[in-house]
Amino acid sequence: MPEPQKFFLTTPIFYVNDAPHIGHAYTEVACDVLARWHRQAGDDTWFLTGTDEHGQKILRTATANGVAPKEWADRLVESAWKPLLNTINISNDDFIRTTEARHEQGVAKFLQKLYDDGHVYAGEFEALYCVGCEEFKPKSEILDGEGAFEGEKVCAIHSKPLELLQEKNYFFKMSAFQERLLQLYQDRPDFVQPASARNEVIAFVQQGLEDLSISRTSFDWGIPIPWDNSHVTYVWFDALLNYITATGYGSDDAQFARRWPGNHVVGKDILRFHAVIWPAMLMAAGLDVPEHVFAHGWLLVGGEKMSKSKLTGIAPNEITDTFGSDAFRYYFMRAISFGHDGSFSWEDLHARYHAELANGFGNLASRVLAMNAKYFGSVMPTAGELLTADNAIRDLAANVTAAADAHIEKFAIHEAIADVWKLVDALNHYVQEQQPWALSKDEAQRDRLATVLAAATEGLRALAELLHPVIPLATQKLWVALGAEQALGELSSRPLREAGAWGQLPAGTELQSLEVLFPRVEAEEQS
Ligand code: MSP
Repeated sequence: MPEPQKFFLTTPIFYVNDAPHIGHAYTEVACDVLARWHRQAGDDTWFLTGTDEHGQKILRTATANGVAPKEWADRLVESAWKPLLNTINISNDDFIRTTEARHEQGVAKFLQKLYDDGHVYAGEFEALYCVGCEEFKPKSEILDGEGAFEGEKVCAIHSKPLELLQEKNYFFKMSAFQERLLQLYQDRPDFVQPASARNEVIAFVQQGLEDLSISRTSFDWGIPIPWDNSHVTYVWFDALLNYITATGYGSDDAQFARRWPGNHVVGKDILRFHAVIWPAMLMAAGLDVPEHVFAHGWLLVGGEKMSKSKLTGIAPNEITDTFGSDAFRYYFMRAISFGHDGSFSWEDLHARYHAELANGFGNLASRVLAMNAKYFGSVMPTAGELLTADNAIRDLAANVTAAADAHIEKFAIHEAIADVWKLVDALNHYVQEQQPWALSKDEAQRDRLATVLAAATEGLRALAELLHPVIPLATQKLWVALGAEQALGELSSRPLREAGAWGQLPAGTELQSLEVLFPRVEAEEQS
């Protein structure tokens, strides 16, 4: 047996200043689909998510709510962020909070190493800071304010005024890594994906890198700088380290060697932190840089990035309460090209839910199982000689499996689902053309009827396996109805890369009826 491939995947860790909206859930779902795919394919998979709890943004929110920052973070993590994982059915292996001891100790160790190795110095600094971004803004993201903010400088992302900060800070000599970073992007063209993100990062680094302020003295909600307790660590420097403190850096060498380097999926607004600052930090510490950094686009509302601070946030359960978590997952992964911006609309969700999930997939499954019940007493029939149409379905199953796997490898989730959906459409077409109901009327066609239903049922077996990472609940129901749990074992352990191999569900398997997988939703049930 060859060694399994390893796949360590991370989401960004989420700020706990507020409850999640569907933009955050989008990042989580995309990562979950990738993680489930790799895990089911047998890769040594580890999927990490968590929360980013230090810094001024959290401190200010907590203070405004009259509680200590740690208390605020505990409240939000327990009442909002961990429950989100259930709402959208996330299969994370670990959840890191930056206020945990394992993280704080790892950060201190990392900082001390950089300091001891001469990558850090003390200096003076004055620049415009955005608390929303938790970042000193580069010139390209500073705009002149309008309306209420006339005469002020505002952040291009948050449209809120920037604050002029002047402090004595510790600096990380990031500028020293400019050439090595450019070399990295050149040597590994898929290090930053998609290509548009890569180009943006290269252009940014080519302009020249400045050193990075990595400590703050004006407030104390952060991890103390180990050699100078009057400073706390800059929140991004602290947060980025979660990817290694959660996987054993400085505490469990075997776990760290097994997991690191990882793959990071991030929103494009935080690409620079992951594709420039983070690899520079790792280089300085003598550690491997990440395998890939993939930047996805934004969910837009009214043409702007959805955000709670702009009052355009939609809570994930507003969608899942009506449509269910599978539909949430399917819709966002299918309707938006991963790597590009996309607009959410209730009409589009409603339309795709009915056309693709209820009619396209759900109906196919219930029809095929109902015909098995009617014509073969719910026992998987034995296929006879395969004709051209049957062979075409068999070949398509193999082809879409390979194509989808290749797309997942490239983070092209929407393409992978589109590949698999070719099989959904082809099976619907096949049933329509072969007309089992007509064959059933002619005893001489009994064998043909068996062949057609065996192919359609085997097609459902392949679909259940291929779609399990995307719609885990519906495919599990289908799996049980196919009698596959007994015949083939647990769905989540089915080797995904072999899902397209034909003839896996044995003839004679006892089938069951299937409840409606995606019940109709009336327009007025939507919010
Ligand atoms: N805490 C930092 C990340 C630190 S990672 C070491 C952060 N947190 S965040 O909560 O503001 O954002 C987390 C993720 O949610 C980011 O990838 C961000 O792009 C994503 N999204 C927030 N709003 C979004 C949309 N409207 N659309 C898509 N993704 C969005 O940044």
